[in-house]
Amino acid sequence: MDPQSSFDVIVIGGGPGGYVAAIRCAQLGFATACIDDWTRAGGKPALGGTCTNVGCIPSKALLQSSEHYAHAAHAFADHGIRIDGLSIDVAKMLARKDGVVAQNNDGITYLFKKNKIAFFHGRGAFAGNDGDRWRIAIDGPGAATIVGSHVIIATGSTPRALPGAPFDNVRILDNAGALAMPAAPKRLGVIGAGVVGLEMGSVWRRLGSDVTILEALPVLLGNADEAVAKEAAKQFAKQGLAIKLGVTIGAVKVGSDDVRVEYTDETGAATSAVFDRLIVSIGRVPLTAGLGADVVGLVLDARGFIAVDDLCRTNLANVWAIGDVVRGPMLAHKAEDEGVAVAERIAGQHGHVDFNTIPWVIYTSPEIAWVGKTERQLKDAGVAYRAGSFPFAANGRARALGDTTGFVKFVADAATDRILGMHVIGPQASELISEGVVAMEFGASSEDIARICHAHPTLSEATREAALAVDKRTLNL
Ligand code: FAD
Ligand code: NAI
Repeated sequence: MDPQSSFDVIVIGGGPGGYVAAIRCAQLGFATACIDDWTRAGGKPALGGTCTNVGCIPSKALLQSSEHYAHAAHAFADHGIRIDGLSIDVAKMLARKDGVVAQNNDGITYLFKKNKIAFFHGRGAFAGNDGDRWRIAIDGPGAATIVGSHVIIATGSTPRALPGAPFDNVRILDNAGALAMPAAPKRLGVIGAGVVGLEMGSVWRRLGSDVTILEALPVLLGNADEAVAKEAAKQFAKQGLAIKLGVTIGAVKVGSDDVRVEYTDETGAATSAVFDRLIVSIGRVPLTAGLGADVVGLVLDARGFIAVDDLCRTNLANVWAIGDVVRGPMLAHKAEDEGVAVAERIAGQHGHVDFNTIPWVIYTSPEIAWVGKTERQLKDAGVAYRAGSFPFAANGRARALGDTTGFVKFVADAATDRILGMHVIGPQASELISEGVVAMEFGASSEDIARICHAHPTLSEATREAALAVDKRTLNL
C-alpha cells in the first residue's frame, strides 16, 4: 500500500486527547495520522475539538472579558479609578473570543506540520481490517481509506439534551449556543448548576442578564468540599445568580420569542418560569456515532462509552480509546494525559494516569479548584485525617489585589501527614491548585509544604499557611 495511506498509528479525533496523542506518537517515531471532522466558517478544518472550539478556550475568553467588564463596573472604583459612560460591545467580545479560538486551531495545525503528522479532514470510520491492520475510511474533504497497526479513538462527547427539548440554538442553547449569543438576554434560564451552567451563567450575569439556574440535586457542587460549596453559594447569590436547587423539570415550551419551563421546586410545588433564552447544561454523552463500531465489533458499555480497561485498551487488538469517549472525568487534561500514556504504551513504555491527582477547576469568580479527597469522602471511608485552612482575608497579596474571598484547605492523613486533598476557593485557585497536585504526586506531607519557602507577597503564602494550619500553627492568623 502507498506509504501515504499506511501508518503505525491512526488517531480518530483531533481534540485535546487526540491531537496530543498524535504528537506524542510522532515524537516516539511512529508514522502517525490524525482524522478530525470539525470545520470552521469557510470550510477550513478547526483542530482542537470541543475544548478549543466550543469548550475550555472560548469559555475562558468570555469569562475573562466579562470579568474585566464586571471589575470596571464594580471594583475599579475601590482602586480610585473612575470610569464614566462604561459600556460593552458584545459583538467585539465574541469576535475576540473567535480570534482566540482560531489562534489555537492554527497552533495545532502548525504542531501537526512540525511533527510530520498526516492530517485528514473528515469523519473516520472503521471499515474492516487487512490482516492485523485496521482499515479506516474517511468521509469528507480529506476522503481516503488508510490503514494502521494501532488506532486511538478520541472522538469526544456531545451535549446531553433534555428529553422533549431538543437544542435549536435559538431559544434552547447547548454550550456552542451559550458561547455565541449576540447580546445578553434580559431573562436567561440555565438548567443544570454544573460546571458549564455556573461558568456560562456567570458570563451572561456579568454582562447584564437576569440569570436563574435550575438544578435537580438538593445541594450545589455536591462533589466539592462542603465549606467550598457553601462559600461558593454565598458568593454566587451576592452576584445575583438565582440558583434553585432540588427542582424537577417538567415541560419546556418554546414560544415565538421566549421559552417557558415548567418545574416543581424543592418543596414539590408546581411552578414555571419564562426566559428569553435557555441554556441546557446537564452533562455530556460520549460520541461514537458514525465510527463503525458495529462493523468491527467494538464494545461500548451500558452508558454508551467505549469500554476500556485501566490502560485504555478496548476489546479489539491494538485499538485504544481515550478522553471524553471513555469512563472518567470529562476534562481536557485527563484526555491529554491518557493520549500521552497510550502513545507511550504503544512504544512499550509504561505511561500512567493517576485519577487521584487529576485537578478540577471551575473558572467562576471566585475560582474553585480541588485535587484529591474531600473531608466528606474521608469520613465516609473511615480515614482519620487532619484539616487546615487559611483565609485569603489574612493574605497580604489578596488584600493588595482587592480580592480576599475564600480560603485554601489541606486534608492530610492523621497518622502519616501525607496530603490527601487540597481545596481552594478564591483568587487564582486554578493556578494555586498545581502545588497540591505536585505535592500529592510526590507523596508530600503537609509539613513539607509548610517548610518550603514561598515568595512574599503571593497568594501561594495562603497555601503554605493552610499547610501550617494542619498542625495548628499558622503564623499570620
Ligand atoms: P473532544 O474535545 O470532544 O474532541 C473530539 C474531536 O473528535 C472533535 O473534534 C470531534 O468533532 C471529532 N470527531 C468525533 N467523531 C469523529 C469521527 N468519527 N471522525 C473524525 N473526527 C471525529 N475541560 C477542562 O479540562 N477545562 C475546562 O475549562 C473545560 N471547559 C469546558 C467548557 C465547556 C463549555 C465544555 C462544553 C467543556 C469544557 N471542558 C473543559 C471539557 C473538555 O472540553 C473536554 O473534556 C475535552 O474537550 C475532551 O477532549 P477529547 O479529545 O476527548 O474530545
Ligand atoms: P455537569 O455534569 O458538570 O453538570 C450537570 C448538572 O446538571 C449537574 O449538577 C446535574 O445534577 C444537573 N442535572 C442533570 N440533569 C438535570 C435535570 N434534568 N434537571 C436539572 N438539573 C439536572 O455537566 P455540564 O455542566 O454540562 O458539563 C459537562 C462536562 O464538561 C462536565 O462534566 C465537565 O467535566 C466538563 N466541563 C469542565 C469545565 C472545567 O473544567 N472548568 C467547564 C465546563 C465543562
